[in-house]
Amino acid sequence: EIMKEVSGLKVLEAGIEEKLGISKVVVVPGDSDQSPWVKKEMGRACVNTMRKRFHDENIIAVAGGTTISSVAEMMKPDTKNRELLFVPARGGLGEKVQNQANTICATMAEKAMGNYRLLHIPDSLSHESYQSMIEEPSIKEVIGLIKNSSMVIHGIGDAKTMAQRRKTAPENMQKIEQAHAVAEAFGYYFNEAGEVVHKVQTVGMQLADLEKIECVIAVAGGASKAKAIRAYLKKAPHTILITDEGAAKELIRE
Ligand code: F6P
Repeated sequence: EIMKEVSGLKVLEAGIEEKLGISKVVVVPGDSDQSPWVKKEMGRACVNTMRKRFHDENIIAVAGGTTISSVAEMMKPDTKNRELLFVPARGGLGEKVQNQANTICATMAEKAMGNYRLLHIPDSLSHESYQSMIEEPSIKEVIGLIKNSSMVIHGIGDAKTMAQRRKTAPENMQKIEQAHAVAEAFGYYFNEAGEVVHKVQTVGMQLADLEKIECVIAVAGGASKAKAIRAYLKKAPHTILITDEGAAKELIRE
């Protein structure tokens, strides 16, 4: 029975790799929309994928959200004692503290017995404050680490869900809706074609930086996120996707 289930998931993985044109997909059993523990299984799968790709020295940039929080929860010390430095991928995006990249980054580093550096940046900044903040030596240093990271771990969300969760200002809410945004990842909103239609202004990793990063892992599951996952991956083909059966079955359908 177990072997049958495993081979079924392998077929799903191969099918999605082909359909979305990405090189690596991992599918865990279940649907995280229905069963919260499935997020932990995605977390475990992500940790395994990370460990296979570590070098002797690593800078790992992590985004926020409940899924990446599960990755942190499942993190364990590296048996090979490699150097692990964790940084938040971007500054404040308007999330509650438990969903913030800073919080998750610190937990992940502690569980990995690695080191971490944090970004202390307010959620919304005027253009002038932003310009002077990025000149602050302590912030400049962390931004430098982020831009040089060897690995990025991020979530993908449904655009509307994320905009509401962040209590987005009405004018931006309208912009996001009028542009038919369906996906969100680390502060960027995307339409069905995978094009950026809105971005939250903050420091740290920018979308263009992703292309130069060796290992980019997106962790997102639940049938309700299938549309967002598909849209986001249209323009991010070198991403490794960790997902669940719930999202996978939707992704393979059409
Ligand atoms: O706000 C951080 C973030 O990583 C978003 O970019 C993403 O859309 C969201 O969290 C995913 O959150 P969750 O895993 O809780 O669905």
